[in-house]
Amino acid sequence: MAIYEILQHPDERLSQPGRVVEEVTPEIKRIVENMFETLYAATNCAALAATQLGIPLRITVIDFSEKKDQPLCLINPEVISGEGETFTAEGCMSVANVHEKVKRYERVVVRAMDLDGEIKEYVEDGFMAKCMQHEIDHLNGVLFIDHLSALKRKIVNLRFRRG
Ligand code: NI
Repeated sequence: MAIYEILQHPDERLSQPGRVVEEVTPEIKRIVENMFETLYAATNCAALAATQLGIPLRITVIDFSEKKDQPLCLINPEVISGEGETFTAEGCMSVANVHEKVKRYERVVVRAMDLDGEIKEYVEDGFMAKCMQHEIDHLNGVLFIDHLSALKRKIVNLRFRRG
């Protein structure tokens, strides 16, 4: 087991989409174990995408349960449909100390492969729906701050300007 480093904005790897995982190999399982270890080691971390950890694959791990005992791993997840709209604050382990409201679907149907290589559909709302949309964005090289207005994004980015 190992803990991965969480890439920080404006690391350009955060803007690169992950590759499709063709098959759940022992190597993929090992990566997922390490992703969960990284998730559980971080403070206030609900979910992580592999692309945030320097691993350019379409994998995300989610667990925001109080006891951290409800791990969910989605491989090649896709939003199949969405309805309703929410506008609530989000944060991200890769964008320190920024919390801004983002528009999301209120309910989503997400299709993904699980660790047994089976394709499943997840019908979700509330925080899980928001979380899945945020993570799928990561796998497409999109950060939540990319959804902000140009002006807001500019103001946020001033904080991350390199020396
Ligand atoms: Ni994030």
